[in-house]
Amino acid sequence: MGCDDGTVAMLLPYQGHPEITDETPRAKSIVKEPKTTPALRERGMTFQSVMNRAQRVEYDEFYTRYEDVEKELSMYDKRVWENKTVFCNCDDAVGKDENTTSAFALYFIKNFQALKLKKLICTHYSGQIDLFGQGAAGYIYTKTGFKAIGKYERLKDYNGSFDHPLSVEILENEADIVCTNPSFSRAVDYWKLLIGSGKKFLIISNISNIVTKSYIGFFKNGKVWPGYNRVDNYINPKRELVRAAGSWYTNLKIENRDRCGLLKIVPLKQIPDKYIKYDDSGMLLVDQGFIPSDYKNPFGVSARPILNGVLELGYELIEAGEYYPYIEGQKKFARVLIRKRAG
Ligand SMILES: C[S@@+](CC[C@H](N)C(=O)[O-])C[C@H]1O[C@@H](n2cnc3c(N)ncnc32)[C@H](O)[C@@H]1O
Repeated sequence: MGCDDGTVAMLLPYQGHPEITDETPRAKSIVKEPKTTPALRERGMTFQSVMNRAQRVEYDEFYTRYEDVEKELSMYDKRVWENKTVFCNCDDAVGKDENTTSAFALYFIKNFQALKLKKLICTHYSGQIDLFGQGAAGYIYTKTGFKAIGKYERLKDYNGSFDHPLSVEILENEADIVCTNPSFSRAVDYWKLLIGSGKKFLIISNISNIVTKSYIGFFKNGKVWPGYNRVDNYINPKRELVRAAGSWYTNLKIENRDRCGLLKIVPLKQIPDKYIKYDDSGMLLVDQGFIPSDYKNPFGVSARPILNGVLELGYELIEAGEYYPYIEGQKKFARVLIRKRAG
């Protein structure tokens, strides 16, 4: 979380937390430093570059609510977490109270024993408070056991970015399961790195990923599938509730996906006319969760049926790109093409 006025975050003594026993310093409290900062020009920056960075910050700073983390994570078999190192690689670790602690960090700290975790590592990205180029201040929080006090490490030149060489080393050599809501503005890079690592993960991202070219290949190749829940509410840096269309995505085993029940898989003839369209090229498009059970050709669907698990019910993605239908020459919203698997 950033400081609006360009002040610098400093480590202060830990002030206690009802749920968290750590007595280590943490990096959330803000103290003002005298304003003797050099001019932008002296730091090789322009007004525009500051504005661009500020815009990315605004776009990225949506925090996950504790209840959303708890709701999703409690749906997986607990044995998934046993003796595992969990890596939250876009998360502030522990603040002075629940409001200033990442919901992911808080969930794993609170449930460390119940989940039988081996280790929790959170890396904090400092870029968002580095708007004015005053230097990197990322840190690594590591908790090695239920009773162990979490340790903070601040390393020279470490900015906490998920793609910093040190973060990548943790991902590759230490992490068993990655769990976070990553940066929206760097989502494509994040997915590539995470999926490329071959690690287990459970993350939040935009619902439209499923119909977006940069991600479709991962779904098509079975590298990722939707988690159980959508996530529509987040908290902004002013602690206000904000809405955004997110979903959980994972490569952990999903059992009894409730949302499959929202799909209406019926013969084409039984789909009401108003939910069927053919585009200018003759491609069938179906809406409102209807899926034709007896149609052999590809057809277009929105992100929703994929989120609801249609790929687990005998259908497959057939294109590695989004499909934009045109109806009477007018471009419509993006779909993906799926078809019933042969046999
Ligand atoms: C959508 S927010 C979610 C924060 C937190 N994971 C949560 O769930 O509440 C994404 C966070 O990623 C941080 N971020 C931006 N760029 C990053 C990077 N390169 N590496 C790591 N974190 C980054 C942002 O500052 C922001 O706090």
